[in-house]
Order: sequence, then C-alpha cells, then structure tokens
Amino acid sequence: MVPLLLLPLLWGGSLQEVPGYELRLKENLTVQEGLCVHVPCSFSYPWSSWYSPGELYIYWYRSGDDRRQANPVATNNPRSRRRPETSGRFRLLEDPTPNSCSLIISDTRMSDTGSYFFRVERGNNVQYNYRDKKLNLQVTGMAGEPNIHIPEPLESGRRTSLTCSPPGSCEGRRPLTFTWVGEAVYSLGRQALRSSVLTFTPRPQNHGTNLTCQVKQGDSVTMERTIQLNVSCESGGMAGSLWVVGVLCGQALRLLCAADSNPPAALSWFRGSPALNASPISSTAILELPRVVTAEEGELTCQARHPLGSPSVSLSLSVVYPPELLGPSCSWENKWLHCSCSSRAQPASSVRWRLGEWLLEGNFSNASFKVIFSLAGPWTNSSLSLREELSSSLRLSCEAGNVCGAQSATILLLSGKSVSPSGVVPGALGGAGAMALLSLCSCLIFFSM
Ligand SMILES: *[C@@H]1O[C@H](CO)[C@@H](O)[C@H](O)[C@H]1NC(C)=O
Ligand SMILES: *[C@@H]1O[C@H](CO)[C@@H](O)[C@H](O)[C@H]1NC(C)=O
Ligand SMILES: *[C@@H]1O[C@H](CO)[C@@H](O)[C@H](O)[C@H]1NC(C)=O
Ligand SMILES: *[C@@H]1O[C@H](CO)[C@@H](O)[C@H](O)[C@H]1NC(C)=O
Ligand SMILES: *[C@@H]1O[C@H](CO)[C@@H](O)[C@H](O)[C@H]1NC(C)=O
Ligand SMILES: *[C@@H]1O[C@H](CO)[C@@H](O)[C@H](O)[C@H]1NC(C)=O
Repeated sequence: MVPLLLLPLLWGGSLQEVPGYELRLKENLTVQEGLCVHVPCSFSYPWSSWYSPGELYIYWYRSGDDRRQANPVATNNPRSRRRPETSGRFRLLEDPTPNSCSLIISDTRMSDTGSYFFRVERGNNVQYNYRDKKLNLQVTGMAGEPNIHIPEPLESGRRTSLTCSPPGSCEGRRPLTFTWVGEAVYSLGRQALRSSVLTFTPRPQNHGTNLTCQVKQGDSVTMERTIQLNVSCESGGMAGSLWVVGVLCGQALRLLCAADSNPPAALSWFRGSPALNASPISSTAILELPRVVTAEEGELTCQARHPLGSPSVSLSLSVVYPPELLGPSCSWENKWLHCSCSSRAQPASSVRWRLGEWLLEGNFSNASFKVIFSLAGPWTNSSLSLREELSSSLRLSCEAGNVCGAQSATILLLSGKSVSPSGVVPGALGGAGAMALLSLCSCLIFFSM
C-alpha cells in the first residue's frame, strides 16, 4: 500500500493529466476572510459504453488528505461524510450544466488557506484524482469597507434609518456585530450603538460630522467606513436651529447670530417678532447697539432666510442698573425707633444695615431689636426697629449693592431723649446724604433666550 500512497505526492503538480481527463478551473484564488467565493469549475472524463455503469460522484479534498482516511470538503455522494471544519461552508454549486465541479465557499476562514484537489468516480472504470490543476485558496485578513446605505438625503428634523452592511453578500456567514460611532450617535445620548441600523433624527449640528460603522466578526476582524453627514435645513420654520452668541460690554452690545445650515442662510435682525414686511435693524448676522438704554429692553429676533424655510430665534434684552436708595428714614413710636430703607436695582441688590459696630444682613429679632429684609422684583426693602435705650447717638447706615455698583446712605441718630416721640428723627447730620461708593459698571446688558 505504501508506494501507492506516496505516488501522487511524488508526482506533485508536474504531471500531465491522463488523456481524456481535464479540469477547467481558475487555480489561484484570493478571498477576504468572512466572505463568500464562487469557484467556477468544470471537468471531463473519458467514457465508453463498455464501461461498467454507475452513478457519477464528485469530490473535493484537501491536498494531502488520503481519501481512504479523510473526508472530502464537498461531495455529491450522499453516503460520504464531510470534513467537519468545512462542513456546511464548502458546497457544490447546484449547476444545471453537466460536469460542473463549481464550488461555493461561504464564510471563509484563514484556516481554509491551502490547496484542494478534485476527484471523480463512476462505476469501476472511472476513479480519478485530477493532479494537474488544483484549487489554491488564499484567505486574507478582512479588509475593505462596509457599505452605508442612506435611503434619502438627510434633512434636519426628518427621522431616517441608515443601514450598514458588509461588502459582498453571503449566506451562512458567522454573525457580524455592527457598531456605530459619531456625533449623530452621541446626540441619541449614547457612546455607541450596536446595530446594523441607525435610526435618528438629523440636526443641523450633525452636518459635516463623521459617522463611522464598524463591522466585527468574532473578536478580532474589523473593518469600518466613515462618512461625512450632509444635513440640509429642515423645511419647517422651527426655531432651535440657530445659535446666538452675545458679546457684552459696559454700554455697547454686539450680538452675533449664526445659522447652521446647508446651503448657508441669509441672516437679519429685527426688533420684536419679524412681521411680513418689517424692515430689519441689521441685515447681517451682527447686530451692534453702540449704547444700550433701558428703553431698548425687549425682544430682538434673528431670522434666517433659506430655500427650505425661515427659522428665527428671539432673545429678550434686559438692561441692568445699579441700586437707587430710598432712605433710610426713621420715626419714633411708643419708645421704639422704626427705620426703613429700600433699594431698587436690576438685578435686585442686597441691602444691609450698619449700626455702630454691628453689620446686620439677615432677619433678626429679640425683645429689644428687630430687622427684616424682603425682596420683590427690583425692590429690596428692609425695616429696622430698636428700643429707645439702644438707639442713643448712633450712626445708622443702609448699604445696597449689585454687580453694577453699590450705594450707601447714613443718618446720625442723636440722643433719643432729644427727639420728640413719633416724629421724624430731626438730628440727622447732613441729612440722608446718599453717595455712590462704587460704580463697577453703570450699564450692563445680558440676554436670555
Ligand atoms: C498559482 O500560484 C502559484 C504559486 O504562487 C504559481 O506558481 C502559479 O503559477 C499560479 N498559477 C496561475 C495559473 O496563476
Ligand atoms: C472625519 O473623518 C475624516 C476622514 O475619515 C478625518 O480626516 C477627519 O479628521 C474626521 N473629522 C473629525 C472631526 O473627526
Ligand atoms: C456630503 O457632501 C460632500 C461634499 O458635497 C461629499 O463629498 C460627501 O460624499 C457627501 N457625503 C455623503 C454621505 O453623501
Ligand atoms: C425675613 O422675614 C420676612 C418677613 O417675615 C420674610 O418675608 C423674608 O423672607 C425673611 N428673609 C429671610 C432672608 O429669611
Ligand atoms: C438683642 O440683640 C442685641 C444684638 O445681639 C443685643 O445687644 C441685645 O442685648 C439683645 N436684647 C435682648 C433683650 O436680648
Ligand atoms: C419696597 O419699597 C418700595 C418703595 O417704598 C415700595 O414701592 C415697594 O412696594 C416695597 N416693596 C415691598 C415688597 O415691600
């Protein structure tokens, strides 16, 4: 037996086929891991009516395998078993043309790399291994890019589904895992999405961002494709697709309006909401107000004009001013001295009392002393009550401040005994002289949307 087994190995590929036997095959084939490959092949063999009859069986074996000990990778012989590693993946193509030996190999693996020989059997007279031509299969690492299918042009606000698919189509491949990454995915509140389909609602800010689909087979094989999203403006007139950046300054205001759209939109500014034929206060993206006064408080609107709509965004302008003090003013009532002090400011200021050594900033009350602070709108009001015995010869100050500045007013209380009950404190030195202590900025603007 031994010489018979060795014979085909010694012959190698140098042998010619026995006359009458011929295999037509593209011998060298390179395929990427995980894909399918169709190997076209046909064969012929000698036949004569003298030959013993029999079914035609064909086999593909791995080179080096002895057919008496190993199973074929593919065969049409129903009684034959298949090599376990390739079973189900190597199949004979059910080809209607006679004498086809075509193969379909699906879900190719690196371990499939190697050569394969073809065998034909029919009755006793035809039992032949083709030696001249073999299938040399080379499986390379997965490469290339998956396809990303975008069903229709992306439009802001219109929900859509993108599909990622591997190159080539293949039945019976091992399961693939798909991962999407990119800003469009982050905007769904996720780091990554594991699915072959990404369903999302494009936003103008997704325009120009990268979206990547990664395809993995098993743990290691990866390929990916990155596309840049093209998102056109939504056709509705919804706000929210605009960003506003304000530049603040003491007395001048510069507002920049930006529309994230494709193609670019024409921008203009209006006071209030833009009426149909309203004329803009600025026909560019920038609105400059060299000196903002309280009268300019109110709504400002930036409108974008775009073939697909005219979205707009509004902001409301508030003018900020430092405290204006009312008081303090004091009066006597039943042995109690009552003083009040009010401050009007935008934003509302803090108010505190300075009484001799004490600094009073919060509500406080005991049997001989009471201070209350209350806040409503631009007003911060405070009242202070103290019994006669505490109130002799004191300096009493009311102080108010906000981001724009501070003010303070002082009165000097003479001995309680020298003033008449229920009267206004007469001995206020220098009157209720108010003095601006500090003015950080006289006019500051902010906006809110
Ligand atoms: C197939 O590849 C082998 C080894 O690389 C080479 O010797 C042979 O010429 C190739 N055959 C064809 C038909 O290209
Ligand atoms: C988007 O992808 C391209 C090429 O894939 C790359 O050059 C570019 O830096 C990416 N941009 C961002 C913002 O990641
Ligand atoms: C988006 O538009 C750019 C430029 O017009 C183009 O190069 C790119 O392929 C487009 N991307 C997609 C995903 O259609
Ligand atoms: C002080 O008291 C007044 C009146 O009781 C109350 O309205 C106010 O909220 C209090 N202020 C503080 C800071 O607790
Ligand atoms: C009330 O509080 C003030 C300040 O802490 C204190 O000087 C005064 O003695 C107190 N009066 C009473 C009756 O507790
Ligand atoms: C605060 O004082 C001002 C001026 O006296 C007054 O108009 C306003 O109603 C007062 N606000 C409160 C909450 O007491």
